[in-house]
Amino acid sequence: AWSPTRGREIIADHLPLEGATLPILHALQETFGYVPQDAIPLIADAMNLSRAEVHGTFTFYHDFRHEPAGKHVVKICVAEACQAAGGHVTSAKVGEALDCAYGETRADGQVTLEPIYCLGLCACAPAAMVNGRLIGRLDDEAIDEIAAEVRS
Ligand code: FES
Repeated sequence: AWSPTRGREIIADHLPLEGATLPILHALQETFGYVPQDAIPLIADAMNLSRAEVHGTFTFYHDFRHEPAGKHVVKICVAEACQAAGGHVTSAKVGEALDCAYGETRADGQVTLEPIYCLGLCACAPAAMVNGRLIGRLDDEAIDEIAAEVRS
């Protein structure tokens, strides 16, 4: 869970880096699973930036989560090679199978579904990442397996 003390430590650790805002946001997300609103003023103070500037960076990149993620995190690649391999049909099927919209966490907190832009698995498109595991050649069977994993 979010702890301002731990948040301050993480910010201090990354402060010496060039353009520290992004590394700080990534480190906070890695630690807490999302970037809590409360972290924005802490980063702004530490970096001598306005809250609006930090907030702007935070919202510009779609990698950052504003809320805690669900129990399972499913990311479906929506970049070019995967789209060319029928990725838009696949991503729609995954959304249906999980009963979850992209960019959202299902109301029961069981799953967060997110688009992602290239997983480096273009040769095995369409590709996905499920709880940190890469999955290539997403077919109906693979989608069923993902849905089963999300039910657990
Ligand atoms: Fe989907 Fe590269 S475009 S993995």
